[in-house]
Amino acid sequence: MARGRFITLEGGEGAGKSTQAKLLCDRLDKEGVRTLLTREPGGTPRAEAIRDILLSGKAKPLGPMGEALLFYVARDSHLELTIRPALKRGVWVICDRFHDSTRAYQGAAGGVPVSALDALERIIIGDTQPDLTLILDLPPEEGLIRAKARAESAGQAVDRFEEMSLRFHRNLRDEFLDIAGTAPERCVVIDAPGKPDDVAYTIWKAVVERLGS
Ligand code: TMP
Repeated sequence: MARGRFITLEGGEGAGKSTQAKLLCDRLDKEGVRTLLTREPGGTPRAEAIRDILLSGKAKPLGPMGEALLFYVARDSHLELTIRPALKRGVWVICDRFHDSTRAYQGAAGGVPVSALDALERIIIGDTQPDLTLILDLPPEEGLIRAKARAESAGQAVDRFEEMSLRFHRNLRDEFLDIAGTAPERCVVIDAPGKPDDVAYTIWKAVVERLGS
């Protein structure tokens, strides 16, 4: 059986990744493609438990390197128990955030050396690299307003990373665009400020162009 395709969605806060990941899965399902929608950190019980620790800020005292290692503990479980088995069954995996988020948040914005992230990628991810990464690009000022509104309507506080400074979020955006520039064969930058349906159409065109329908 042919291996499934692995698609990741990346970007700063409030860029609409979760909405777009869901719309992409719905569209692929309609085309008869078997899909699995998942997210990072998360996607297994162990990784979801680590997500709670990371997003609550409980791991903040460990520093960016400690947090990066925790993201990788979660990623290891996710790859082993969820992502690789699904790809092997021919299922297309749509993942809301993956290793580029570690490079942006803990690496470029947090100061964890690139050499450490390269080593973790080699050891934990190996050849399970995404076939396509959609980088949803939005001015951070706008994304943070959206993220705050979403948290308020859910009756929650903003999380550990949403509460960081505008400067931190500007660094993130620059890093995601740099990643897209250095890996153009894998990444497509998607202009995210538009209406969700318009953004979904742009994403669908990119998926068909890069991976076939
Ligand atoms: P989100 O799923 O709502 O985007 O929340 C995940 C948060 O975790 C988001 O603020 C980005 C952050 N994050 C990292 O800092 N590093 C990572 O490797 C991943 C996957 C997420």
